[in-house]
Amino acid sequence: ILPPALRAAVVTASDSGYVGAREDLSTPAAVELLEKAGYRVVHTVILPDDRAMLGAELKRLCDGDLADLIVTTGGTGFSRTDCTPEATMDVVERPTPGISEAMRLNSMKITPRAMLSRAAAGIRRQALIVNLPGSPKAVRECLEYILPPLSHGMDILK
Ligand code: MTE
Repeated sequence: ILPPALRAAVVTASDSGYVGAREDLSTPAAVELLEKAGYRVVHTVILPDDRAMLGAELKRLCDGDLADLIVTTGGTGFSRTDCTPEATMDVVERPTPGISEAMRLNSMKITPRAMLSRAAAGIRRQALIVNLPGSPKAVRECLEYILPPLSHGMDILK
């Protein structure tokens, strides 16, 4: 018998997506790739670029053991409101910088602007949080690259 599928959650940080001013295409992109990699996507949510709200949601998902992998999309750049890495590091207990470094390094082959993403990643309790940039294109490029090696880490974490 196969082991139960790992649970994934997608937390999107977007002021315009939160108020419904812009269609959120990064969540469906993330869901598609996570499911293709065998994850069961149990939760998706769009929040504003608010450090306290994002941190509280990440903490709730980790501390309630509601997801094994949490990917965030958006809010990693230089805009005044971008605060997803800060919200993430507010709750992370054990940073996993290698994931973010590898993501940026690989993305640099696609666009030098990849260096502008301040994305972070780390473990809280039994869950891994990984920040992705906000564009659906970036979400696809990053997840396609990190998900295969990540499966070994997820095995160890659980
Ligand atoms: N990474 C990949 N793989 N592909 C991309 O198109 N865009 C970059 C970067 N990382 C990009 C990428 C750009 S233009 C920015 S500004 C930063 O991610 C931050 O994006 P965010 O503010 O939406 O989080």
